[in-house]
Amino acid sequence: MDKITMEVVRSDGNKTRYDLKFRKGMTVLDALIEVREKQDPTLAYRHSCRMGICGSCGMNIQGMPRLACQTQVSSLGKETVRVEPLHGMHVIKDLVVDIDPFLAMHTFVKPYLIRQDLKERDRSDREYRVLSEEVERFLQFDYCIMCALCYSACPTVALDPYYLGPQAIGQAYRYMADPRDEGWEQRVDLLDEAQGVWRCHVAGSCSLVCPKDVDPAKAVQMARMEILKKRVLRKRAKAGSPLVSVAPAAAPKQGTKAPPFDFRREGT
Ligand code: FES
Repeated sequence: MDKITMEVVRSDGNKTRYDLKFRKGMTVLDALIEVREKQDPTLAYRHSCRMGICGSCGMNIQGMPRLACQTQVSSLGKETVRVEPLHGMHVIKDLVVDIDPFLAMHTFVKPYLIRQDLKERDRSDREYRVLSEEVERFLQFDYCIMCALCYSACPTVALDPYYLGPQAIGQAYRYMADPRDEGWEQRVDLLDEAQGVWRCHVAGSCSLVCPKDVDPAKAVQMARMEILKKRVLRKRAKAGSPLVSVAPAAAPKQGTKAPPFDFRREGT
């Protein structure tokens, strides 16, 4: 392959075609940069790190949400590369989409460690210990780079803009599974909503397109289990059963015992 054609869907819905010389190792982002530098300075797209870390170069390439900087032109197996903005998101210009709704969902699930004692952060003699087997419960969800590919690929997001989406649920679960976190009850309630985990139709496209091999579809299922567990515990509490401890009264001692809930299933 000596030449390629970049077929870019622009803001007005029309396609613009750019012919380029193919170079070995050329990524879709390299091609777009060349187009903007040498042929069309009006072409708009986002990028920053060029190494699959910042998550800003997400776009639809050959019909699939992908990172442009991680997609080799040669891997697509075609001389014409079709590039569109991410689906299901409002287009600002050309390949630049509005990620505010996506970020709003992310923020909504409180993607940070919640602790009861707010003063402890000022104490330099305190550390939060986590065992490596405890880290395994949430580590893969930490790899999320917030590129919004999963959000764009999700058919439920496309139908219901108020659905939290796979990324936000994945992040909520990441902190729910962290033994240092004390916000489990709050997050379970945030997810146990019509537009929360129950809206997911388990299409699995979120996990399929993730460039970091995060599995948000799994997070949705695990969060559902936690919600059901909480409902049972609340019912028991109502019935006066002694088994009412939904969450520990005090912070669990870090790194010394399992958290008050077990996210791992046999064979996972
Ligand atoms: Fe940063 Fe592609 S440019 S992920």
